[in-house]
Amino acid sequence: MESKPYAKGLEGVIADESSICKIDGAKGKLYYREYSIEELAAHSNYEEVCYLLLYEKLPTLAELKDFSQRMRECRPLVQPILDMIQSFPASAHPMELLQSSVSYLSGYVQHRIAHSATCNCRNTLYQVSQLSSVVATYGRYREGKKYVPPRMDLSHGANFLYMLHGTEPDPVEGEIMDKCLLLHAEHDFNASTFAARVVASTLSTCYCSISSAIGALYGSLHGGANQHVVEMAEEIGDKNNVAPWMEKAFAQKRKVMGMGHREYKAKDPRANIIQQYLVELSEKKQDFRYYEILQEVEKVFRGKMETAGKPIYPNVDFYSGAVYRLLGIPAILFTPIFAMGRVAGWLAHILEQRSDNRIYRPESLWKGPEPRAYVPIEKR
Ligand SMILES: CC(C)(COP(=O)(O)OP(=O)(O)OC[C@H]1O[C@@H](n2cnc3c(N)ncnc32)[C@H](O)[C@@H]1OP(=O)(O)O)[C@@H](O)C(=O)NCCC(=O)NCCS
Repeated sequence: MESKPYAKGLEGVIADESSICKIDGAKGKLYYREYSIEELAAHSNYEEVCYLLLYEKLPTLAELKDFSQRMRECRPLVQPILDMIQSFPASAHPMELLQSSVSYLSGYVQHRIAHSATCNCRNTLYQVSQLSSVVATYGRYREGKKYVPPRMDLSHGANFLYMLHGTEPDPVEGEIMDKCLLLHAEHDFNASTFAARVVASTLSTCYCSISSAIGALYGSLHGGANQHVVEMAEEIGDKNNVAPWMEKAFAQKRKVMGMGHREYKAKDPRANIIQQYLVELSEKKQDFRYYEILQEVEKVFRGKMETAGKPIYPNVDFYSGAVYRLLGIPAILFTPIFAMGRVAGWLAHILEQRSDNRIYRPESLWKGPEPRAYVPIEKR
């Protein structure tokens, strides 16, 4: 019998062609379309990057103005969504709330074209704008505070902080928040994006595709890691505790969150950029606790892995949680923030999938017993 290639976790398998994001894992380079992440982080903003991902080019001034305005007009939440956030069980995680609210939102979109290769997600922008409004409002409701209507004059990131805290953010903090969303906006065929593309390939709606992607991102091996990194730093407590903590973690074969990546064999370029934001914020707030601990974790972990001949580097999640902490954001919101940024990439992939669609249908390698006769229940 012909043996077909088998790759657990689909490692190394090329599932489709794409022109949205390029990763050079060996060199630690990342591009959205044809622009490096370093240049985009230095000169662009989240709304412009959404345009780049969805329209395949950088916008002109007029195009960006129009696009930003349309995105901003989608920021306010309608009362039924507010009611839903309010009544969501307190024991549930906000990623579950996000998943549900995306499905719920689909009922409020007029030009929804399901079951067809034509998709309207480039036009609605509801998902992009409203995910951040939902996360901010959830953050307020869980503290018994009221909904803060969005500001139309603020960037996507600054408006999120405004809706969460109820006060206009310091400009540097607003910009760092916006850039963090930009850095999370896209990352090729990762698990959540692949989930979005699989659902899109069935010609389901973009809302269903996004809600599946959110479910995939929730897991601790994917977007959940940023929350776990901060919890780890808090558990360690002081940079002098890092070495003994690491000995114990290795003895228990615990994975160190925020470290390692399927694609990168060098430090994730986004981790380098976010690390700089952490330095900037730590200096601004004169609070170096997270930075000192995480820097030490990186040093000790990398040293141990290099000695073991398995070099592993920090990924995007390693420093992002600490940045959010210094922006006054509770850890429970970190993974939803990842989703708020990544939704732009998911939408771009849904569009790309639909532009040249073939339904995903891989195969499995049979490992069960040989076929045998059915045994009636009284004879088992
Ligand atoms: C990201 C991740 C899921 C990639 O998984 P993967 O490509 O399947 O790689 P593996 O988990 O098989 O790791 C390969 C080897 O490195 C080790 N390794 C990888 N990441 C590690 C980590 N964070 N801590 C300790 N060891 C790690 C594995 O134990 C494995 O060792 P082995 O070959 O002796 O079994 C993995 O590195 C991980 O779990 N990281 C922590 C979670 C995280 O930060 N996720 C966010 C990703 S953006």
